[in-house]
Amino acid sequence: MFPKFVILALFALTTTQIHAATDKVICYYASWGAQRPGNGQFVPEDINPDLCTHINYAFVGLDKDCNIQVLDEENDINQGGLKRVSALKEKNPNLKVMLSVGGATASPDSFVAAANDPEKMKNMTSSAIEFFETYNYDGLDVDWEYPQDKATFNRLLQGLKDAFAPKGYLLTVAVNSIPGEVGGYDIPAMSNVLDIINVMTYDFHAMWAGFTAENSPLYGGVNESDWQQQNRNADAAIRYWLDGGADPQKVTIGIAFYGHHFILSDPSKHGLNDATAAPGEPGPYTVNLGSLGYNEICEFHRNGTVVFLDDMKVPYMYEDTFWIGYDNEQSVTIKTEYAKEKNLAGVFIWSIETDDMHEFCGEKNGLLKAVNKAIKN
Ligand SMILES: *[C@@H]1O[C@H](CO)[C@@H](O)[C@H](O)[C@H]1NC(C)=O
Ligand SMILES: *[C@@H]1O[C@H](CO)[C@@H](O)[C@H](O)[C@H]1NC(C)=O
Ligand SMILES: *[C@@H]1O[C@H](CO)[C@@H](O)[C@H](O)[C@H]1NC(C)=O
Repeated sequence: MFPKFVILALFALTTTQIHAATDKVICYYASWGAQRPGNGQFVPEDINPDLCTHINYAFVGLDKDCNIQVLDEENDINQGGLKRVSALKEKNPNLKVMLSVGGATASPDSFVAAANDPEKMKNMTSSAIEFFETYNYDGLDVDWEYPQDKATFNRLLQGLKDAFAPKGYLLTVAVNSIPGEVGGYDIPAMSNVLDIINVMTYDFHAMWAGFTAENSPLYGGVNESDWQQQNRNADAAIRYWLDGGADPQKVTIGIAFYGHHFILSDPSKHGLNDATAAPGEPGPYTVNLGSLGYNEICEFHRNGTVVFLDDMKVPYMYEDTFWIGYDNEQSVTIKTEYAKEKNLAGVFIWSIETDDMHEFCGEKNGLLKAVNKAIKN
């Protein structure tokens, strides 16, 4: 007969396995937000450290010798960006702060070089660990867009893991969300080695479309083709990773705090899939053709008409020739609930500095608060 405590211990083990928590809110912080003008400025102290479990500082680079390289000396070092973010751990001792290396505009060359040359790998791991120690970081987030070869990516991740694991540093990645599009992902191997896989479930449609379309639909639209429904939404992407062998407790769904906007060809035709004349003008803060932060949507398009799509579970907004597919409090709540239904690790945000910080749409930090409310609910 089992002593009572053994039975209790077994029971506890079983229940934690069944009810593994969906509790992670991984907040990417685009550090250049500190340099934006006016209401667009967002400095490290604007981060509410109780609304994130992880903050991913974006971005650092890799130099040609594969050493971690600061990309904006003035912002990251002289103004203290890196240290001021990790200092938030004083306010929330459970907070993890990650160094995010790469990004959409980084060259893949140094990632490939580190994977293929053990000496360069040593440079990457030792410079990363030096960074963690100097700036009080908890690990590395690899945002290589995108690895084309599974063996190369596996070697890179394994090399990093071997160096980080003995010291307890975390290793996470951000990955492409179009099912099957990138050849470089060995999902079971990645799931073994990594702590978190952030699936970038946005940019499913953008300015190249030629017609109005959503940035980050959770589900396919009833009028979409089968191919669209199976490839161009967050649910399809998450199912691809789970069906491919990823541990759900290592997967997070990406939530976009921005949208893609268009100039309508005809302001009277403002539905989904209507003709567009051009991508939308850059916003004053994010300065990106064809996209606007939620902060810019809230501040400059308060009078727009919002339509919520029941099939895709995201809103769009139009006003004269302006049209944007984006996320609001309702849609980020639904995405967070989806993460819980699928027993995922949680959600991640790209990126927190474009939340509504000046109460144009509602409460300060409205989107991130909605995510937290749903995750704790
Ligand atoms: C490693 O980095 C150092 C500079 O810190 C450089 O001198 C050396 O050549 C690098 N090693 C390799 C194999 O690139
Ligand atoms: C689907 O297309 C039909 C016919 O064009 C249209 O009436 C309907 O509103 C569309 N539904 C959605 C959800 O877009
Ligand atoms: C919204 O409409 C009001 C009244 O027409 C106008 O005064 C205001 O400037 C508009 N706000 C924006 C952000 O367009």
